[in-house]
Amino acid sequence: MRRRLVVGISGASGILYGVRLLQVLRGFPGWETHLVISRAAVRTLAIELPEWPLEAVRDLADFVHDVEDLAAPLASGTFLTEGMVVAPCSMRTLSAVAQGHCGDLLTRAADVTLKERRRLVLVPRESPLHLGHLRNMLAVTEMGGILVPPVVSFYQRPQSVLDVVDHTVGKVLDLFGLDHTLFQRWG
Ligand SMILES: Cc1cc2nc3c(=O)[nH]c(=O)nc-3n(C[C@H](O)[C@H](O)[C@H](O)COP(=O)(O)O)c2cc1C
Repeated sequence: MRRRLVVGISGASGILYGVRLLQVLRGFPGWETHLVISRAAVRTLAIELPEWPLEAVRDLADFVHDVEDLAAPLASGTFLTEGMVVAPCSMRTLSAVAQGHCGDLLTRAADVTLKERRRLVLVPRESPLHLGHLRNMLAVTEMGGILVPPVVSFYQRPQSVLDVVDHTVGKVLDLFGLDHTLFQRWG
């Protein structure tokens, strides 16, 4: 059986992080991806990546689940996965995860990931941050989630936006033990 990874894409800026993650994960035949895209992410995708129609993004995943479908497999802890990544993660989704609000499949799947003590990785994107954002990040961290802010690693001397994105995507893959060459390792 292939190992399952849930990928959530929410409506923050930086939709490319989610798209690139899905692209890279296709290179791991032992893994299958389960994608959930929020309604806001569909909007942000159209604004930020007009060259990527929604269908093309959906085609990158092995399985796509409707964000409104709270009866989807991902809504239950009995559906076994290795964990979930939300990239990018909006402050709305971060807040819902921090407070345990499960109003849609994306936030329910994240909640399931936490309650089953599986790995939950959020790539939060907002700037500047107010105290509520920071408290939500703290709450998710206290529950076992991992925050991977998409920060630029200048020491890697990135030459393109893709270099910048790949660094964060590589950090996410590291957290799931997926071997990659998206960036050069120090030393
Ligand atoms: C072009 C665009 C960029 C946005 N960037 C951000 C962002 O960087 N961070 C954020 O938290 N929300 C951002 N938003 C707002 C979210 O899309 C909005 O809060 C939405 O309700 C999030 O819903 P979701 O969490 O269900 O995806 C952006 C919206 C648009 C249209």
